[in-house]
Amino acid sequence: MRLVIHSDYEKASRWAARYIAGKINAQNKNKPFVLGLPTGSSPLGIYKEFVKMHKEGKLSFKNVRTFNMDEYIGLPPSHPQSYHYFMMENLFNHIDIDKKHVHMLDGMAKDLDTECRLYEEKITAEGGIDFFLGGMGGDGHIAFNEPGSSLVSRTRMKTLTMESRLANARFFEGNLDKMPTTALTVGVGTVMDSREIMLIVSGRAKSRALKAVIEEGINHMWTVSCLQMHPKAVIVCDDEATEELKVGTVNYFKDLEKDNL
Ligand code: GLP
Repeated sequence: MRLVIHSDYEKASRWAARYIAGKINAQNKNKPFVLGLPTGSSPLGIYKEFVKMHKEGKLSFKNVRTFNMDEYIGLPPSHPQSYHYFMMENLFNHIDIDKKHVHMLDGMAKDLDTECRLYEEKITAEGGIDFFLGGMGGDGHIAFNEPGSSLVSRTRMKTLTMESRLANARFFEGNLDKMPTTALTVGVGTVMDSREIMLIVSGRAKSRALKAVIEEGINHMWTVSCLQMHPKAVIVCDDEATEELKVGTVNYFKDLEKDNL
């Protein structure tokens, strides 16, 4: 696994966005580039950079298909805190992606199990995910694969932990009662099947989890640690996120990446 450490969040986001843009631009035009995407505050810098590159004519999403990681159950796409709304506001409304190529889980579906099964089938029908971008929860979760999730899980419904609900209540006027208690999420196995995975991790609040994921073993209590088993995984982070890592670990990865920044 690569760990690419930048001095701050802006630099990390710019580097990550350019890395992904390079992959999109290099894609053979006869085959769509299938991109998995997250929500949350972590990818916002990357999305801003995508929009900027698109406006400058350096990046087109015409040949891109997207699959989002997760969605709250019970929130319609028009709800400002739904992940549908977030993606439209922060990315899709500002780029040239064909909306029929945007895939998101429907948290309002009548039959949630069927919704999840069909989502996996749609991913397979597109030839699998080329590149999954993700964030990480403060407890080391990926998408909504909360601690204790199966490391071979597929898209399904999950009950949110109190930690996730508290972390996200800020978007619901700080009111826990307004915060959904369940979500649909791709599984750890779904993410692991993609050909490349990148996580963007920022700030001290993530440093305990980052330590577990980088320096400790594979453990379902930190579902991001599954990345240790992926042949092409990269975590892009800022200095603050490395606060809990050993000095030796930080120095090692900084030395490895010194020519790539
Ligand atoms: C939620 C999302 C995750 C996201 C995490 C961290 O749990 N389902 O996809 O990575 O929050 O969010 P943030 O980037 O705002 O810290």
